[in-house]
Parts: sequence; structure tokens; C-alpha cells
Amino acid sequence: MSRRMSWLAGCLLLPLCALAQPQPSAPTVLITGANRGMGLELARQYAERGWNVIATARHGRGDPALAALRTLAVEHPQVAIEELDVTDTAMIRALALKYRDRPIDVLINNAAAVSDTFAEDMRISLTPFDRIDFDAARHDFDVNALGPMRVVQAFLPNLERSRQRKVATITSSAGSFGRPLPGAVAMNYGASKAALNKYMVMLAYALRPKGITVGLFEPIFVATKPDMQHMRVAAPVDRAVAGLIRQIDAMGPERSGKIVNFQTGKIDPF
Ligand SMILES: NC(=O)c1ccc[n+]([C@@H]2O[C@H](COP(=O)([O-])OP(=O)(O)OC[C@H]3O[C@@H](n4cnc5c(N)ncnc54)[C@H](OP(=O)(O)O)[C@@H]3O)[C@@H](O)[C@H]2O)c1
Repeated sequence: MSRRMSWLAGCLLLPLCALAQPQPSAPTVLITGANRGMGLELARQYAERGWNVIATARHGRGDPALAALRTLAVEHPQVAIEELDVTDTAMIRALALKYRDRPIDVLINNAAAVSDTFAEDMRISLTPFDRIDFDAARHDFDVNALGPMRVVQAFLPNLERSRQRKVATITSSAGSFGRPLPGAVAMNYGASKAALNKYMVMLAYALRPKGITVGLFEPIFVATKPDMQHMRVAAPVDRAVAGLIRQIDAMGPERSGKIVNFQTGKIDPF
């Protein structure tokens, strides 16, 4: 199907997207922030491997922000699109209730409080210290650190029921203590990712007795925004995500609570 045709089919068949057809014999992945960037590419690559995909995004049905996901769901009927804002505990719990009988093999915490352009991310990241809005940090912490914990807590029974039992959380080198970015760069974002790392390391210990592995994955510089497409130093999204999926496939208990650079596969001491 051509891109234009499948986009049209995505719009026309909108109501059918709610009727995703999961394959009982295939594993299931749930992804947060799946409407664009790495989340969308994760949904695409897992769908192409034949997995059942629960692709979540903070947009309601019919929102243009879901156009690419809808097209994917038309091409792969085992893709379900669900509304999920990781700051909304009631919404997360309601979705977990809807899926209470479904094992979830891999839960990917991908969503983050970032902008849809690199230029805007840079503008926020490079704000001088005396002008940083620390009240705005509440939002970074809510999405980046608390969001993943809420999602794992709500979907824990689904993970326990699955064969693979994996949580994969996307972090950032901005949250590193060992290699901090210079000056005040990305202070609120970086501190929220550091909090996320701490939570995930503690979660890895807490979930070990249940046989659940908790991996932290650190992309380096991936061209997820339209204004990054021509940057030669930025890795193409499809290649970076293929590397991430290889790391998730290979993730075993010995890597639980460790931070893995997903381009090199090496453990970062942070
Ligand atoms: N790209 C890189 O080089 C890089 C480097 C280091 C770390 N990372 C990390 O990699 C992950 C993916 O990044 P990306 O570059 O693919 O980002 P992206 O393209 O900007 O996508 C971010 C996603 O998070 C969603 N999101 C934001 N707030 C949300 C909320 N409250 N609830 C649910 N979803 C929400 C966004 O939805 P909307 O469309 O609604 O905004 C969007 O789908 C993030 O965790 C990021 O911190 C990326």
C-alpha cells in the first residue's frame, strides 16, 4: 500500500482501530509515548516482528497526532492504540483494568517531557541558571520519573503473567552523575532522569523475586525530531531502535538495574 493510500485507510478505518486483533501465540509489548519519535518506531518494529503491540499516547481517538499510529494499526491488525497520559494515575489504572487478562511481556517506558522540535529542546536546555523555572521541573519529574513508576505499578500483574517479564525504561545521559552535561544544561530534565534511574534501580531489586527484569537504556543522539533529520551526528531512528530492541531481547537478570548504552550495548556506570 502506498503511504498516501495507507494514510487514507487509517482515517477511514478509524473506528476499526479499536478492534485490534491480538495474536494469542505472540508476545505483547506496551509502549508509552508511541505516537512519534522512538516510541512510534518501536511500535512499528515490534509490529513488523509479529508482536501484539499496545501503543499508548496521550491523545484521544481522532486526534491528528495519532495519524501515523493509525496507519500502522491498519497495516498490522495486532496493534491496539490506547490513550494514556503517564501523569494521570486514574487513566493508567483504568487501562490496566481493561487489559487485566493480558500478559505483557515487555513494558517500555519511553514517554518523556520533551518538545517536538530539537530547537525548542535546546532553548529550554540552554536556559541560564538564573532563569531556570524550577516550578516547571514538577512537570519533568511527573512525566519522566513518576510516570514510569505509575505505569509499572498498574501493569505489574500483566508482567507477572507473561513469559518474558521485562521492563525497559529509556533514560538519558543527562541524568548521569559520572558524566554530567556541563553547566546548567538541561538541569530539570537531567535531574528528573537521575530520579528515574534511582527509581528503576530500586525497582529492579523489588521485582527480582518475581522474576521481572528492569533494564535502563540510554540513547545517545537519535534523530527523532523533524529538525534533526539532516544532522550527520544524529543516528537514524530506525537503526537506533533496532539496536534498542536487540538489547531488550538480550536483557537478562544480570543486567537488571543496570544502564545500557543502546547503540554500543555497554553498561554505563553513571
Ligand atoms: N532522541 C534522543 O537523542 C534522546 C536522547 C536521550 C534520551 N532520549 C529519551 O528517549 C525517549 C524517547 O525520546 P524521543 O526523542 O523519541 O522523544 P519524542 O519524539 O519527543 O517523543 C516523546 C514522546 O513522549 C510523549 N509524552 C510526553 N508527555 C507525555 C505524557 N504525559 N504522557 C504520555 N506520553 C507523553 C510525547 O507525546 P506528545 O506527542 O503528545 O508530546 C511523545 O510521544 C525519551 O525518554 C527521551 O528522554 C532521547
